[in-house]
Amino acid sequence: MYKTHTCGELRPAHAGETVTLAGWVHRRRDHGGVTFIDLRDRFGIVQIVANPEVSPQAHQTVVPVRSEWVLQIQGVVRRRPAGMENPHLATGEIEVEAHQVRVLNPSRTPPFLINKDDPVDENTRLKYRYLDLRRERMRDIIVLRHKMIKFIRDYLDARGFIEVETPILFKTTPEGARDYLVPSRLHPGEFYALPQSPQQLKQLLMVGGIDRYFQIARCFRDEDQRGNRQPEFTQLDLEMAFVDRREDIMDLIEDMYTQMVAELVPHKKILATPWPRLTYQEVMERFGTDKPDLRFGMELTDISDLVRGAGFKVFASVVEQGGDVRGINAKGLGGYTRKQLDELTEYVKPFGAKGLAYIALTPDGQMRSPIAKFFSQETLEAIIQRMGGEAGDLLLFVADRPEVVFEALSRLRILLADRLNLRDPDVLAFAWVIDFPFAFWNEEEQRWDPSQHLFTSPMPEDVHLIESDPGRMRGTQYDVVLNGDEVSGGSIRIHERELQEKVFKLIGLSPEVARERFGHMLEAFEYGAPPHGGIAAGLDRMVMILADTPNIREVIAFPKNQAARDVMAGAPSPADPEQLAELHLKLDL
Ligand code: AMO
Ligand code: AMP
Repeated sequence: MYKTHTCGELRPAHAGETVTLAGWVHRRRDHGGVTFIDLRDRFGIVQIVANPEVSPQAHQTVVPVRSEWVLQIQGVVRRRPAGMENPHLATGEIEVEAHQVRVLNPSRTPPFLINKDDPVDENTRLKYRYLDLRRERMRDIIVLRHKMIKFIRDYLDARGFIEVETPILFKTTPEGARDYLVPSRLHPGEFYALPQSPQQLKQLLMVGGIDRYFQIARCFRDEDQRGNRQPEFTQLDLEMAFVDRREDIMDLIEDMYTQMVAELVPHKKILATPWPRLTYQEVMERFGTDKPDLRFGMELTDISDLVRGAGFKVFASVVEQGGDVRGINAKGLGGYTRKQLDELTEYVKPFGAKGLAYIALTPDGQMRSPIAKFFSQETLEAIIQRMGGEAGDLLLFVADRPEVVFEALSRLRILLADRLNLRDPDVLAFAWVIDFPFAFWNEEEQRWDPSQHLFTSPMPEDVHLIESDPGRMRGTQYDVVLNGDEVSGGSIRIHERELQEKVFKLIGLSPEVARERFGHMLEAFEYGAPPHGGIAAGLDRMVMILADTPNIREVIAFPKNQAARDVMAGAPSPADPEQLAELHLKLDL
């Protein structure tokens, strides 16, 4: 037996016991001929004392030892002398007097400190991820992730759900990204696609009578990397048969997350229960985004009607052309300097805004604004009043097509809230967003794009519009937003062939292509498919928020870097010519 106890579990009650421990050297200090070692494993840290007068062997063995060496230590637990206790350590009241020490493996000097949470270049951390994982912060995140998954499994198991694995080598399952393809050796010129989600498979499980399914499922999407995206990520994927009300799924998920938060992160408070259920139209109007951060206000205000025909040409002509003028009130930032205001203008430009107009109500009651002079006193007052402007406030406006106004102001809202410290990490602002448009008109491609995916059902009362006025149809989609991130999305599904074919047609899939790609779904719907619906929750994103990490790579044991590379093993990497030949592939670089 390598060890009788872990490094984290010894307490005063163990005093007098002979124990064997194994772990890494966290820290080593010499003190008047005696060597102290903090020995670490996943469970904690314990102080070892190697005194040459107690055991010359133990002491001699630890003299050359350095950080991250692996040791096995046999010794006796004893209470620390009075005044020497360490209240920061769970084992801080005891120490282990070493009687025998064995070096299991030495270590080179690590490329960064394991025993400190100092910032380290991320690519170095990823290259030596196995060392990074030894650090306390990473250990805590990995443990939290495990606990979340275990909580979910237990919760769903207790409610009659069963976990079913679905294939990774499959056929295109589009969720709006590019597919990863896997060439087939046995079938020259043919490819598997890695699923972007198990969407079709879980629906087919419902047709298969599984009734209540879930899976901790890996999904693959070839898209540009961002702070909250990875090429492969994990969903809690879930589907239920015999539901046709979206509330059946929503209530379940809301209850599960509420209980999970209470159990795993009790220091975090859910802002509102039950979670607000907001329509797509409402969140867009109020926050300019379908994933609003509800921890703070700073809502958008429409002033289009006030500036229509008024003296400022830029605003008037935007309204004339059917655009919007909206603003936000950044409370307390009225003292911003010209330079700071110019920076804000630069910030919104990449989102399409052509400018950022402002009215700064300085704390001393003055007004600074490049646009005020264009308005009558009456209009100016009406604008300030509608914006709730008071001395010390900064009113910011964007005039453009609604998409641009929403994008620019919603981004600005987050930037300013961060500066004003309005995004308290211990507050969890969950909300449902519902009543999404079923489809959006894609001007470039001249077709309708589904707002969720191809299998989402329109709201039953809107189905009749599918041919006459598809833009007015609402979908059954429901999303969970949390602190400004989309953490889940689902819907009630289509389970009838006829309606599914109409949706394929609406989004411009010819019957031939639809049959080739999704014939198995259409056929399955003809064999007694039950009404069904489900949801998928982005697990990594949930861990990110619960563990307060700035990016998704922090919550995955072995993530890809921002360029979608695994820098530890070196992937992707070139393939051997023989492998390519076997796969019937020729490179054209
Ligand atoms: P959707 O595409 O909305 O829905 O995905 C569900 C959730 O998965 C998370 N997510 C991601 N997380 C990390 N990296 C990514 N690249 C990434 N992409 C998505 C998000 C998102 O809310 N099959 C449907 C669900 C359903 O209808 O049941 C689907 O996959 O948190
Ligand atoms: P200009 O008269 O073009 O110098 O603009 C005066 C102010 O209006 C500047 O602060 C610009 O940033 C701002 N501005 C210009 N175009 C827009 C727009 N489309 N939306 C909001 N503000 C704008």
